[in-house]
Amino acid sequence: MAKAVTVAMARPADQETVTTAPGIGVVGPPDGGAAPDPDTGAAPGPDTGRARGSGPERTKPADMDAAAEFIRLHRHECPEAGEVGPRLLEIRRQIDLTGTYQHTSAELVFGARVAWRNSGRCIGRLYWRSLRVRDRRPVNAADDVAAECAAHLRTATNGGRIRPTITVFAPDRPDCPGPRIWNEQIVRYAGYQRPDGTVHGDSRNVDLTGLAIGLGWRGDGGRFDVLPLVISARGGQPQVFGLPPDVVLEVPVSHPRFDWFTELDLRWHAVPVITDMCLEIGGICYPAAPFNGWYMGTEIGARNLADRDRYNQLPEIAGRMGLDISRDRSLWRDQALVELNVAVLHSFDMAGVTITDHHTESRRFLAHLAREERARRVCPADWSWIVPPISGSATEVFHRYYDQADLRPTYVRHDRDLPALHPGPG
Ligand code: ARG
Repeated sequence: MAKAVTVAMARPADQETVTTAPGIGVVGPPDGGAAPDPDTGAAPGPDTGRARGSGPERTKPADMDAAAEFIRLHRHECPEAGEVGPRLLEIRRQIDLTGTYQHTSAELVFGARVAWRNSGRCIGRLYWRSLRVRDRRPVNAADDVAAECAAHLRTATNGGRIRPTITVFAPDRPDCPGPRIWNEQIVRYAGYQRPDGTVHGDSRNVDLTGLAIGLGWRGDGGRFDVLPLVISARGGQPQVFGLPPDVVLEVPVSHPRFDWFTELDLRWHAVPVITDMCLEIGGICYPAAPFNGWYMGTEIGARNLADRDRYNQLPEIAGRMGLDISRDRSLWRDQALVELNVAVLHSFDMAGVTITDHHTESRRFLAHLAREERARRVCPADWSWIVPPISGSATEVFHRYYDQADLRPTYVRHDRDLPALHPGPG
């Protein structure tokens, strides 16, 4: 049986206030050891594992045009960084020699921030300049990536005063792919598929839950079990790493007027740290670059806890409110939605955890647009993502159209299937 083992982690190269190494529980496959590679019979070490039947993935050499476009943008907005010409010569030399080039710290920070500024689906971009960048490019081993993810969560959570933060791990290089985090976010809740096809927990994470279990993780079978991180490095097999429970801040959901709300036993995690998007800067792809802002209440109250294929809480809430759920036009769903959203905002406030509401955030977004216009920049925005999922027309962002440009640097979600597990022996 798999056994959770807490191992001492090498202290992450964290120059911030985190002073203790996050203890990451490493969970091995069912036999307690690393799964042997069926082709070679070799047991993959943390970093020596290879994708089945192939060496590490090769990635293409960096594109000089993309690099030049980025360097010009950077030097245009930050002239103090120096001249374009000499930097491009240097980059060309590095690409000729190694197939890739290295960003300076200033370029990385600028690139990560501008990638946020260019994210057309994000309503929260007013503070794009304040993104904290944790440069962890030397980190490329799965266990170190896991430890740094835990450190990221701790420093970004900041006891509830959430700080927008990104941690940038090793980029893809022609000779070695960067690490990959297979989770959608650092904190996600397990979804256990029952034999009748229904799901216990968050159905969004059924596949990842299956993968984690296949790699030796054992969940508690609850509705809000925090999944382990599933990480692969250097093209090797994925490994699971349990998050230390003390880095995961969660908020229990209560309602300012409905005392029965606590009986629903709902909760949500404080910080959304996206882990499945690549950061692309100047032709370089950083496949593991977890980043976070703070929640807008509707993400939890109008989607995660409300969607029929997620936690589907509206019938229960409406029933308890005494609404007529036999007729669509009693608008029971709408009334329940509002109260669930009231509860989410109230609960985060009570817990002292940063959260924004969709009216405030709409106003801020229009302020951001006005600023970008003053700076003579195009601000791409996708209306269908910017307009909140409840009360759209009651927010200012509903009543206009936006530019739809596809600008770089950017965060992209590459289509990729979860890694297939090796068939067990026999
Ligand atoms: N919608 C996602 C969730 O509910 C989070 C996406 C990022 N959100 C954010 N506020 N930065 O978990």
